[in-house]
Amino acid sequence: MPPPVGPRRPGRDLLGIEGLDAGELCEILAAAARLVPLVEGPPPRKLGLLRGYTVVNLFGEPSTRTRSSFTVAAQRLGADVLDFVASAHSSSAKGETIEDAARNLDALGADALVVRHARDGLPRAMAAGVRARVVNAGDGRGEHPTQGLLDALTIAEATGRALDGARTFAGLRVAICGDVDNGRVAHSDILILRALGASVCVAGPPQLLGEATAARYGIEPVRSLEAALDGADVVIMLRIQRERLGSELDMSDAEYHAAWGLDAARLARCCPRAHVLHPGPLNRGIEIASDVADGPNSRILRQVTLGVATRMAVLARACDVSLPQELRP
Ligand code: NCD
Repeated sequence: MPPPVGPRRPGRDLLGIEGLDAGELCEILAAAARLVPLVEGPPPRKLGLLRGYTVVNLFGEPSTRTRSSFTVAAQRLGADVLDFVASAHSSSAKGETIEDAARNLDALGADALVVRHARDGLPRAMAAGVRARVVNAGDGRGEHPTQGLLDALTIAEATGRALDGARTFAGLRVAICGDVDNGRVAHSDILILRALGASVCVAGPPQLLGEATAARYGIEPVRSLEAALDGADVVIMLRIQRERLGSELDMSDAEYHAAWGLDAARLARCCPRAHVLHPGPLNRGIEIASDVADGPNSRILRQVTLGVATRMAVLARACDVSLPQELRP
């Protein structure tokens, strides 16, 4: 991309978990934790910290939770929110590139651009060409850093861990199971959970968890769900990202569920009070059975609630605005 028309705005991009140390990660998580009572409390549930700021969602891929969550987070901070969804109804249908769309939205006065796209590395490339601060909301097979952060916050809350840098998750066993190759959530989760001291195991069939991915993180891939679950404190289940798969997976949904689906019987192999996470969208009866998704160990809807607080903290950081110590609506 050509360079931006002016200096970058004050604040910090969030392009990935990679490159952030345990101290910085805990700083964002601590800010998010302070926002939770506001997110859960009675209306008005609003702070005026970003009044007059403009947050633009720039989405080139489907999204339910992430886009709504960023919108609610920006609104709770008092910002104006604009949605650009690359579709038949936008300039994308007239041949405009996503980079040009970003530069135009930047010129409109965006303070933060929240970017999701199928192309790996696009948010990083965009950050070099716009004044606004860029927040990665999922890039291809790359990263999904706000999901990594909200997963860490959910786990810290569920296990009663204090946010204590690289010691936060010391001794905690987390199993990440399913489509690790194509799941950007898995990548951000592995990076953040290990940075905070967890012991992470990854499990999946070779078509969805190749040796190369496991080697990239220096983890031995586990080839059976049962083995991954044995003694786990936390299980993160992942959807098969069929939109990114070629013909690699020669398994029907029923066969996949039989081998890799988490149901109540398999969950019993984990620690008795194990916590189950899933970033959504759920494919019930494939990677997860309804008795687990809706059962007492599930933290899946809690992830969504904590996601709003997490994105509020990330947007405030992107706009260089600090949260008051005392948070009152
Ligand atoms: C994930 C994504 O889009 O990366 N969903 C999400 O943001 N909550 C995971 C997925 O699509 O399976």
